[in-house]
Amino acid sequence: MEQLRNELLEHNERYYVDEAPIISDADYDALVRELASIEAEHPELDTEDSPTHRVSGRRSETFAPVVHSTPLLSLDNAFDADELRAWDERIQRRLGAGENERIDVGYVAELKIDGVAISIRYEDGELVQAATRGDGRIGEDVTANVRTIDPIPTTLPEGAPRVLEVRGEVFMSSDAFEALNEWASEHGHAPYINPRNSASGSLRQKDASVTARRDLSMWCYQLGELEGGPTLTRHEDTFDLLRDLGFPVNPEIRTVDTIEEVIDVSLHWQEHRHDLDYEIDGVVTKVSDLARRDELGFTARAPRWAIAYKFPPEERTTELHDILVSVGRTGRATPYAVLEPVFVGGATVERATLHNEDQVEAKDVRPGDTVIVRRAGDVIPEVVGPVLAARKRGLRRWTFPTTCPCPLESTLVRPEGEADTRCVHPECPFQQQGAIEHYASRGAMDIEGLGERSIAQFLDLGLLSDIASIYELDFDRILELEGYGQTSVDNLRTAIDDSTRMPLPNLLVGLNVRHLGPAAAEALADHFGHLDRIVEAATADDGVDRLAAIDGVGPKIAETVCAWFRQEPNQVLLERLRAAGVNFEGPEREDVDQTLEGCSVVVTGTLENYSRDEVESAIKARGGKAPGSVSKKTIAVVAGEGPGASKLTKAEELGVPVLDEAGFEHLLETGELP
Ligand code: IVH
Repeated sequence: MEQLRNELLEHNERYYVDEAPIISDADYDALVRELASIEAEHPELDTEDSPTHRVSGRRSETFAPVVHSTPLLSLDNAFDADELRAWDERIQRRLGAGENERIDVGYVAELKIDGVAISIRYEDGELVQAATRGDGRIGEDVTANVRTIDPIPTTLPEGAPRVLEVRGEVFMSSDAFEALNEWASEHGHAPYINPRNSASGSLRQKDASVTARRDLSMWCYQLGELEGGPTLTRHEDTFDLLRDLGFPVNPEIRTVDTIEEVIDVSLHWQEHRHDLDYEIDGVVTKVSDLARRDELGFTARAPRWAIAYKFPPEERTTELHDILVSVGRTGRATPYAVLEPVFVGGATVERATLHNEDQVEAKDVRPGDTVIVRRAGDVIPEVVGPVLAARKRGLRRWTFPTTCPCPLESTLVRPEGEADTRCVHPECPFQQQGAIEHYASRGAMDIEGLGERSIAQFLDLGLLSDIASIYELDFDRILELEGYGQTSVDNLRTAIDDSTRMPLPNLLVGLNVRHLGPAAAEALADHFGHLDRIVEAATADDGVDRLAAIDGVGPKIAETVCAWFRQEPNQVLLERLRAAGVNFEGPEREDVDQTLEGCSVVVTGTLENYSRDEVESAIKARGGKAPGSVSKKTIAVVAGEGPGASKLTKAEELGVPVLDEAGFEHLLETGELP
């Protein structure tokens, strides 16, 4: 207990005083929980000043102190549905509900904005003071800075309460954060770690004109002192008052009756948090009935009438053991981080790409560093940056290796003006491994049973050398290998055999031509109808122009496609594939009415009768486009179950009609909006 307390105090100091935390919030929360659980087991050793009972936070010396009229408290956390239910039961018990009785208090579920808590005081309708939370009791005076934040009013309309203290969260939107980092990189500054830190840093500028340039925003969610205002009885009244006075109030706030609805809302946002243009780390639920709030009261740390459901963390800190380089199917040498395994964003991460040399340089992560690892939604895991405050002495900057990690140890080259470093040896086994994996992958020839491990093994034994050799595999030899029985060999043989009948676009994708993805492959196959005719066009003198003229191909792809088909070894490869019986013929075209010719239709959420892919192909088959975001060009937004809020808002802004599934089917059929 003693050790945990000291550790937490140290982390508080690093976070609030130095503004340079050395662990992620999630790791910090885990320490608090560990301590709290020991304290619960040994109440006799619990002390009043334990970090579990106190609002942590300190203020710096830079700003004048402000004593809060009532303290800015923290919130208790819940990490799963059962903890929310337990909170609900505690409330019922405290309010004296009997065994089978329920006292209706009403809940308001709000987004937990990942920003900086702030309190703003108005007297006679004028903004007189703004302060950060500080240690909860005394904060920092940031009045001049807060005045520059656009959505925060400096004067209130006629009839405003005589004294009004508004509390809420100052934050930086994802767009503003991106813009700031672009600016930072153009001006040679280190990138900012995340929007929350940027918001905090921007708010604490000594020169308020810097704050003014930072595009900060605010959502208001609570009142402090109130004098000469209306009588409020429910939390919703607070929001009505705030809105009337011109304060920004988050539009996603929901009033619900039961804890099960609170859980639904919380889990909804857990899944959809990235649909928002700002970061949230949970959902805060508050008792709506203000008289009941008074009954419930506070602990020293937090109100009993509110709880924060915290999402599983998407950022954790861990050790960076090493930076290695992997060579893929195109020969590109990609640096990646070897990490102490860490559970983040719902998965254990032990590797994360570092993209290229410039990225490693910009982030300046070094083997031995403590780093922040992020895995958000379906985005691949990322090393955000080093925790500089935790850097050990003597760590050296990493430099890109000059030779390929493959047994051939060929030279790696980075052409002038390019971001990528490449291995250019045509026989590099890493490239072959990647090329065969790609050929056998789902999006290409879909050969089940031919995965990373078996390819590596077969390459090693000389059973495979390139993609055409897949059709020359010696199954008798494979049968002798450990781990292969008759069934698995038969299955592999069937899967390979089936692949010869795959549609032409899949084969084109499988050939591993740089830049040639599924969309362009489909366009080529549709246009020419046979691989031989593609080869004929690509090897003609005006090949690049002819290919580039096809809708969905473009000059960059035309260039690499022509270059690929013109190379002699590739032509030999194609002949071997032909000899193996691989299908070269294009799709037979069904005659579908081109009802959506040139129209963009955006789909969000899940539909009942169509998968994601099916929706897209239904639109494309009718000549339409299915982009991922709403713009002026969108003719309709189709909303299924659980649609993205930002897409709907955008549609509303632009006056784009929103259709349900039936409306969508009508549109497909007729090309007309219902
Ligand atoms: S209510 C006494 N509502 O979360 C009520 N806080 O972990 C305390 N936060 O210090 C605050 N969104 O900085 C509340 N909708 C919301 C919030 C919110 C973010 C922050 C706030 C607070 C921290 C507690």
